[in-house]
Amino acid sequence: MQVSSNNGMLLLGQTLSFNADPFSQGPGAATHIRRGAVLVINGKINAVGPADDLLRAHPQVPTVDHGDNLLMAGFIDAHTHYPQTGIIASWGKRLIDWLNSYTFPEEMRFDDPAYAARAAALYFDLTLSHGTTTVASFCTIHPESVEAFFSEAQARGLRMVAGKTCMDRNAPDGLRDTAQSAYDDSKALLEKWHHVDRLTYAITPRFSPTSTPGQLAAMGALWAENPSCLMQTHLSEQHEEIAWVKELFPDARDYLDTYEQHGLIGKGAIMGHSIHLEEREIARMVETGTSIVHCPTSNAFIGSGMCDVPGLHGRGVAVGLATDTGGGSSFSMLRTMAAAYDIGQLRGGILHPAQLLWLATIGSARALCLADKIGNLAAGMEADIVVLDLASTPAIAQRHARAEDIWSAIFPTIMMGDDRAIAATYIAGIPA
Ligand code: GUN
Ligand code: ZN
Repeated sequence: MQVSSNNGMLLLGQTLSFNADPFSQGPGAATHIRRGAVLVINGKINAVGPADDLLRAHPQVPTVDHGDNLLMAGFIDAHTHYPQTGIIASWGKRLIDWLNSYTFPEEMRFDDPAYAARAAALYFDLTLSHGTTTVASFCTIHPESVEAFFSEAQARGLRMVAGKTCMDRNAPDGLRDTAQSAYDDSKALLEKWHHVDRLTYAITPRFSPTSTPGQLAAMGALWAENPSCLMQTHLSEQHEEIAWVKELFPDARDYLDTYEQHGLIGKGAIMGHSIHLEEREIARMVETGTSIVHCPTSNAFIGSGMCDVPGLHGRGVAVGLATDTGGGSSFSMLRTMAAAYDIGQLRGGILHPAQLLWLATIGSARALCLADKIGNLAAGMEADIVVLDLASTPAIAQRHARAEDIWSAIFPTIMMGDDRAIAATYIAGIPA
């Protein structure tokens, strides 16, 4: 039987919420309830508390008992490329060669609406099975790819962010638009989809090497005309890329300046990767409220480098977490948290499980300017919820059996878990 949340539903299990930022407040920023409950009404979280209290207060409300499993906010993947699903785990290239060898040929296929629709459906099957309830995705230059993504997201009731990827140079024939067509197509798409149901449009110049200054200016103008849209792109991912940007934009002070000169920084601007930043770039991002998204599996897989997440967060930059599929090597935000932990270790800054989980939920929601709607298991939030089995494989279960507290109970799932750890995913209170 499918339980509807319209008249109320109580989900029972362990619960994990955040009442503060664990980077500044430590693990005490999280509230864990061993036997908790989440009251969901009309797709939103109405209350979170001890199961006994909520059962007593709402004796008529149907319950779904998740036993020992842990309920928390669904994962938010703040930078991804759904059209690259088919080429994930392609061997042996660094960024520019990887784009030319694997990515661009695959993205070419998204001029076919049927191909794009199949890819979008497969992509959402994969992300939901991994407990990811929102992503911010790049599409391809083809409006068809955006139509496919948003149509499928809308049909599934998902909160999603996406935009048409714009490129008018340094991309192959068939994969280039122009400054004008990028503006016109993006405008038509955002007028059709932005703020329809749970969808957000992100104006999406791919990155400075594939946009002329004219196209970046057109994107900046479109954003100024539609300031409630987001703006997503890539920044300072690999040294070769940064050197290329210096050649292409000799007058720019740095890579960020290629965007800044065209009105493409500020609140709602989301910069994927942002690994090799200069001091001016960091200071400008802090001043303007520009967000960063950390993509640790991708940064290892393509050989890009190690982003200083605690340092940037400590300076006041909003930092989200993301798979960056298919440059990233996994659809799983658990695997992505594990990679963030590994990179923290290699950089000499150890991330606590509370910080990893915060980055994968509230951190990403903040980077996408959606933290008033999603990212926390708290009253008033939309009921996008993941239910984690903390003993999903024999290897994890034997370690979990020795846990003394919630953090040692969940850390083995962060480090070794995958889609087998996802016991259930709720979208606006409905099982996905
Ligand atoms: N930089 C520009 N395009 C891309 C892309 O598709 N993936 C990654 N990882 N970096 C990029
Ligand atoms: Zn990317």
